[in-house]
Amino acid sequence: MIYSKVIGTGHFLPKKILTNDELSKIVETNNEWILSRTGIKQRHIADKNELTSDLAIEASKNAIKSAGINAKDLDYILCATTTPDQTFPATACKIQNYFKLGSVPAFDVQAVCSGFIYSLHIADCLIKSGKAKNILVIGAETLSKIVDWKDRRTCVLFGDGAGAIVLRAVRKKTGILSSNIYSDGSWEKSLHADGGPSLNQKVGKIRMKGQDIFKQAVTKLTDSTIKSLEDCKKKTKDVKWLIPHQANMRIINGVAKRIGISDDRIIKTVDLHANTSAASIPLAVSSGVNKSLINAGDILALCAIGGGLTWGSCIIEF
Ligand code: ACO
Repeated sequence: MIYSKVIGTGHFLPKKILTNDELSKIVETNNEWILSRTGIKQRHIADKNELTSDLAIEASKNAIKSAGINAKDLDYILCATTTPDQTFPATACKIQNYFKLGSVPAFDVQAVCSGFIYSLHIADCLIKSGKAKNILVIGAETLSKIVDWKDRRTCVLFGDGAGAIVLRAVRKKTGILSSNIYSDGSWEKSLHADGGPSLNQKVGKIRMKGQDIFKQAVTKLTDSTIKSLEDCKKKTKDVKWLIPHQANMRIINGVAKRIGISDDRIIKTVDLHANTSAASIPLAVSSGVNKSLINAGDILALCAIGGGLTWGSCIIEF
């Protein structure tokens, strides 16, 4: 049996930081409201000329370096993003071209905040089928560019960044032990962008019914994580780190409570990064590795939910 082992991690954040106090000068809000409802203190914001591919390339360079491989060893590049540089080509192809990878296949995965879990699931299938040895999986976003900066109910929630991991095919039971992905398109009205190439030839802005999403997030993240744990015959006590999509501290805490994981076993970056959609989980994983919180052999439980709705989870022996 072939397994997908994580052999490298990396991330990148734009230099510019926007604090809650600074945000309250742009829109009618305040630090106390944002912090108490979401746990967010600040977010990183990309410059006008800083593109999703720029963040993704920096995160990828760090992941490739940490994997100790050459970019030429990669067989596939998957980039999870909802904020591609352009309608086409895929941002993954721009990354592929940066590394001068000839004809190596590269494509974007559009599953909004679940994009990284979707990408891990696809990459694991490619590795298990024998089609690939080394895959670069990226989550990268510049959500600040599709946020309505006049809508205080959404603009306070999001940030920009990128995270990446390198997966390698190994013949030992380790790495991705199980993963599950789901979608339910009937929730479109609760979370969507009000633009698109075919709809109105615009990029659109994020529109969200926060309370609908909050309730769905807690139950779907919990159920999905429990299912993935069962699939690989692991128990809650085996999980060293729960690494949920970093959307909101209250959602993260609600999921942990339902699964039965104590606060000291959750990686949280939402306070510093806010919701970076598809980038949030790889950013949290890479930050956890850099802080030496995540170590070889640790069992990680990853879970995400996003527009679609899409959701899913993944259990990894690191
Ligand atoms: N600052 C100050 N007041 C605000 C703000 C703000 N930034 N935003 C809303 N308010 C006000 C509202 O106007 C409302 O006031 P009113 O009662 O006078 O009308 C009041 O606060 C309560 O608003 P609610 O929307 O009911 O606030 P709620 O407690 O639901 O919290 C929140 C809002 C934080 C968005 C919450 O619903 C949430 O976290 N939802 C989940 C969102 C999420 O995580 N999405 C992730 C997926 S995103 C993606 O996939 C791209």
